[in-house]
Amino acid sequence: MKTIDIPNTDLTVSEFCFGTMQFGNKVTGLAIDELFNAYRDAGGNFLDTAHCYSVWIDGQTDGVSERIIGDYLRRHNSRDQFIIATKGGHPPVANYRRNDNGYLAPYRVMADIDDSLSRLAIDEIDLYWLHRDDPRLPVGEILEMLETERKRGRIRYYGGSNWTSERLAEAKQYATANNMTGFVASQPRWNLAATTEFYKKEKRQNPGILLTANNGDVAWHTETGLPMIPYTSTANGFFARRGEAPKHWCTQEGVARYQRVEKLSQELNASPNQIALAWLRHQAFPVIPILGTSKVENLKDAVGAANVSLSTAQVNWLRDGD
Ligand SMILES: NC(=O)c1ccc[n+]([C@@H]2O[C@H](COP(=O)([O-])OP(=O)(O)OC[C@H]3O[C@@H](n4cnc5c(N)ncnc54)[C@H](OP(=O)(O)O)[C@@H]3O)[C@@H](O)[C@H]2O)c1
Repeated sequence: MKTIDIPNTDLTVSEFCFGTMQFGNKVTGLAIDELFNAYRDAGGNFLDTAHCYSVWIDGQTDGVSERIIGDYLRRHNSRDQFIIATKGGHPPVANYRRNDNGYLAPYRVMADIDDSLSRLAIDEIDLYWLHRDDPRLPVGEILEMLETERKRGRIRYYGGSNWTSERLAEAKQYATANNMTGFVASQPRWNLAATTEFYKKEKRQNPGILLTANNGDVAWHTETGLPMIPYTSTANGFFARRGEAPKHWCTQEGVARYQRVEKLSQELNASPNQIALAWLRHQAFPVIPILGTSKVENLKDAVGAANVSLSTAQVNWLRDGD
């Protein structure tokens, strides 16, 4: 894998990030080291986790994914080999001990950072994500809170996950006016199966749900150059599973895109999953996809996308067809 310098930071990250939402539930025991080692051996250095991973699993205590990363870094004495990104400020969900709805209130986010630092057993979080937006709050209040944490030396940089481009633009404007770096990246859901039909099924403005980047968001990233670090980048294995599953990605256009992916995969001698991931990597702005597999075999296939080169014509054709 190549490395990418995230603009306006001193973070140099591998071109694929590794997400650990499944760690502690689907990924346990020896599989933890097998996956981390395989990712590191492929040149990976960028890990994504969250304060709430994965409280929706029955019997799970919050923070197990962060604890597993902390444990791995300690056992392998490898803190300096990884860029650690975690998230906080998630709204209340079942099993998640939030006693009110002020999930981006400073006391709440600061308490989340306390927990994350302690579970990860690190002094500073390299990239801190707000897991959701709270559109009831002015962006200035949110950025000032994050700046306080940055100046305290608890987070190095920060970004917004599941933020609309309209709110990202407001944040950018506030940061510029106040001489701040502001958000250095955004983390929406995005992949080649995210089609207009898919967007229609999704309610975008509810901060309690996941936000898939739409055409407007992509145009905004193209215009501003803000890096995107998208999750669900393989559409839950949709392209690896012949465009037939999971069902929620199977829109008419999604299946048509799969068919184009399949065709190109034969021409380029790459797997369909690699073509779909390479498509993300060949956008007009920096895109660093987050991989979410629990299997070494699938991880190795995914990072192999780093070897796939696409022309601009191929990128456009995969999206729009002839
Ligand atoms: N900010 C947010 O709100 C948010 C939300 C969701 C996720 N995330 C982050 O993003 C990461 C990735 O998200 P995600 O898990 O949704 O990504 P994803 O890779 O699109 O989905 C993972 C699922 O796809 C399957 N899959 C992947 N490669 C496959 C292949 N080659 N063949 C068959 N199935 C395959 C996996 O099964 P196997 O395990 O069997 O491979 C797993 O069930 C998470 O770990 C987390 O760090 C962030």
